[in-house]
Amino acid sequence: PEEVLSVSQTNQNQKVAIVTGGASGIGRATALRFAQMERSNSARCLVVVADQNSVDGQHTVDLIREQNGNGYFFCVDVSEAEEMKALVKSTMETFGRLDYAHNNAGISGEKRSIIDCSEENWDRVISVNLKGVWLGMKYQIPAMIKSGGGAIVNTSSILGFQGAPGIPAYGASKHAVIGLTKTAALEFAQHNIRVNTICPGAIRTPMISPLTGDSDEGERQFTRGHPFQRMGTPSEIAEAVVWLCSDSASFVTGQVLTADGGYTLQ
Ligand code: NAI
Repeated sequence: PEEVLSVSQTNQNQKVAIVTGGASGIGRATALRFAQMERSNSARCLVVVADQNSVDGQHTVDLIREQNGNGYFFCVDVSEAEEMKALVKSTMETFGRLDYAHNNAGISGEKRSIIDCSEENWDRVISVNLKGVWLGMKYQIPAMIKSGGGAIVNTSSILGFQGAPGIPAYGASKHAVIGLTKTAALEFAQHNIRVNTICPGAIRTPMISPLTGDSDEGERQFTRGHPFQRMGTPSEIAEAVVWLCSDSASFVTGQVLTADGGYTLQ
């Protein structure tokens, strides 16, 4: 990647993060938040923005640089093993280490019942939302072990513990992410790797805008029964993700952190 610090230029104390789905919504906010994360010696975290959307992914990197952060974009389909392997290889070659990963790329898929859900839709949603998280961890964890440990946050959803009528593959994939995360937490605890799940409620991003028509009135109607009567913002999720990765959460692993403004308490 051009204009990126090479390993030799990287401050040894700088942390390195990968964010999948970093071109939009929650992933973009997390990438920006990681890029502001400072260590006590004020070395900023370096961020690899991974997404299949190159234009918007590069824009996330531009926003990081505007905040005096640093990182680069890597084009990847998270469901493709070779591409995920190449993402981690590139990160290690460029920055020499990997400390944090947010496996966050996801799609909702077609809105159809279990009966009408097509096999193609089922396979695609499971491939992106579940296989993509597994592939992420499969390649990130060895790199983190080489780096002396690390922290991973996988994005599930409140539909990871509630039913999801109309999007069965999505609901199944998000339930599975929680189980996979717990297994990873147990398998790699002895390597000083923590793995947690974030479960966002309704967050204002392009994924959810078809439900609100992207208008204030649409959002008001959509969130009428929500305790805060509003959606969450991507940065409200990013704060939770970065906290889970930070040393402040050093004894927290295998957990499911719900950030939904109290919606699922009802
Ligand atoms: P978004 O649609 O704004 O962003 C998703 C990003 O993932 C896009 O940049 C897209 O290009 C990328 N992506 C999709 N498929 C990909 C693939 N195969 N390979 C690489 N990149 C891919 O959506 P949002 O809302 O930011 O969603 C992020 C995550 O949060 C998803 O896993 C979603 O299921 C989850 N989530 C979102 C909620 C919401 O209300 N927005 C609620 C709960 C969970």
